[in-house]
Amino acid sequence: MFAGIAARYDLLNHLLSGNVDRRWRRLVAEKLRPALDADSTVLDVACGTGDLSLVIAEACGARVVGVDFCRPMLDIAARKSAGVSRTIPFVEGDALRLPFADEKFDAATIAFGLRNLADVAGGLGELRRILKPGGRLVVLEFSRPVVPGFRALFQFYFSRVLPRVGGLVSGSRGAYEYLPDSVSKFPDQARLASLMNEVGFENVDYRNLTGGIAALHSGTRRHDF
Ligand SMILES: C[S@@+](CC[C@H](N)C(=O)[O-])C[C@H]1O[C@@H](n2cnc3c(N)ncnc32)[C@H](O)[C@@H]1O
Repeated sequence: MFAGIAARYDLLNHLLSGNVDRRWRRLVAEKLRPALDADSTVLDVACGTGDLSLVIAEACGARVVGVDFCRPMLDIAARKSAGVSRTIPFVEGDALRLPFADEKFDAATIAFGLRNLADVAGGLGELRRILKPGGRLVVLEFSRPVVPGFRALFQFYFSRVLPRVGGLVSGSRGAYEYLPDSVSKFPDQARLASLMNEVGFENVDYRNLTGGIAALHSGTRRHDF
């Protein structure tokens, strides 16, 4: 499915979100920046076409590695990062069996990826495994709008308008029907925070973005887990 939409993925992200997706990714980098320096290593899981990896590399100056299981997405990411001063390796791999040693990274991110995993808790467990104790995880994901009237309006857009426009532009309506469907099955803000606690993160908090359309969760890997 992701291979089928890769060529139009960036265009549709910016179009369907009115460019808000760019601001959301910048907020991930802002959240990470205080915890990083030039020697820090960050793993961006389910990196897709690399937008978040690039923002983190630019805003935080850290070493970034992107991983995704979709080769056409990674090829686009590699092309986009060709001019950046610090090379970003884009590696093919499964988020549920990350091809990295335990405790390798200072920080990890996953943007609009966790929802797609067959096993969300398993994916969080893998993210914990590759982080150093005390390492920070930031998750950017669609969530549940918090204001009832706005929620109904957004639901109409998300389930009726977005699949049509996404289908027309990408040629794959199924992928853009899958999007609202997968979000409806994904844990809401509070549940995701609990799940992060359960799998070994502490200092877990979250903030709603754009009225809860998305949420930014963060936590640090427990030393004793
Ligand atoms: C909606 S895109 C998000 C891409 C990017 N992080 C962004 O912010 O635009 C979801 C990505 O997750 C990847 N993905 C889904 N399941 C995966 C898995 N099990 N392992 C690795 N990547 C996965 C897909 O290939 C796709 O590139």
